[in-house]
Amino acid sequence: MEDSMKDSMKWWLDSRFGMFIHFGIFAASEGKWKGQESPGLVEWMQCREQIPVAQYRKFAEKLTLENFRAEEYASLAKAAGMKYVVFTAKHHDGFAMYDSKCSDYNVVKMCLPHRDVARELADAVRKAGLKMCFYYSQALDWEDPDAFGNTWDFQEEQKVYRRFLDGKCKTQLKELLTEYGEISLIWFDMPKGMTVDESLELKAYVKQFQPDCLVSGRVNMNQTIGDYGSMGDNEFPSGKLPGHWETPATLNNTWGYRPSDHNWKTPEELLRLLIELLSKGMNYLLNIGPMPDGRIPQESVEILTEMGRWIAVNKEAVYGTQATPYEFDYPWGRISRKENVLYLYLFEHMEKLELPGLENRVKSASLLTEAGRI
Ligand code: GLC
Repeated sequence: MEDSMKDSMKWWLDSRFGMFIHFGIFAASEGKWKGQESPGLVEWMQCREQIPVAQYRKFAEKLTLENFRAEEYASLAKAAGMKYVVFTAKHHDGFAMYDSKCSDYNVVKMCLPHRDVARELADAVRKAGLKMCFYYSQALDWEDPDAFGNTWDFQEEQKVYRRFLDGKCKTQLKELLTEYGEISLIWFDMPKGMTVDESLELKAYVKQFQPDCLVSGRVNMNQTIGDYGSMGDNEFPSGKLPGHWETPATLNNTWGYRPSDHNWKTPEELLRLLIELLSKGMNYLLNIGPMPDGRIPQESVEILTEMGRWIAVNKEAVYGTQATPYEFDYPWGRISRKENVLYLYLFEHMEKLELPGLENRVKSASLLTEAGRI
């Protein structure tokens, strides 16, 4: 990963908190196949159950979008205090959530309302003053015979990844980068099977259309090429990491919508995890998995709105903060900094707090506000 603080990284570093949206044809499956719950990540079900494309595509009928309102997504992200939105333009199943001219396997052609979900979202998100970003699965594509992954419809020996890379992958990326306005980040994922040169080529390809568009660490296997690194899903580092990192994470167990998944984290738990990341100088990319009719699950709305209340009051200790200068954590809470200001996030009420190791005189110490309590 490049460690230099580039201008194009500034918005990302200042943001600290973003919204991931996993929405695709997989949402319409609700995690069930042949009437049975298929345990595991919903968006991986096609692969897990080896569902032929000819059958899987029928889920498109159930992606009704009748209650999809992009402004609600944008205003929820804003209310939550999130500064950017990363939307699954195409996940591993290969189904594009926008009006792709290069592949008819997309939401506009195959779902009845013929709505360009990505365009509606991009417009609403930018209107709300947030950055629009796309997730794009660049190696796995279970609809394409040449991409990695689908060995139940297509023969492994006949796959030529280069054909997919130069074909659907690059053509769709070009569509997304030339027809959808300013895109601030392409969130690549699961590069397994690609060579380093192919990953480098893809990064350069993105920058050719939008030089300031960032590229996620998962563009290559060892995260040495992207503009910043992504931890494993729901993973939190035990110490500070060199360079710039984020943690992509779920509110419950899965990314795509599963009605039976009620394992929601509480706003308190999530704020602690956010604070954990702030103290390491990292971003938190928190996911929502919309329902097939486009509604955002009510639990997600409530949890994120609650988080946003705390963040609104404590925004000074969120946006633009950097990692703690300390090499260790205290049991009472976490620390971040902005130039010569330290932000202390206390996990419990304390009468007295000692902060050893400071070499200059403390000019002042104050509570951001009483309302800042979780
Ligand atoms: C994983 C999964 C995927 C999910 C992603 C989010 O790599 O393959 O389903 O989109 O993580 O971080």
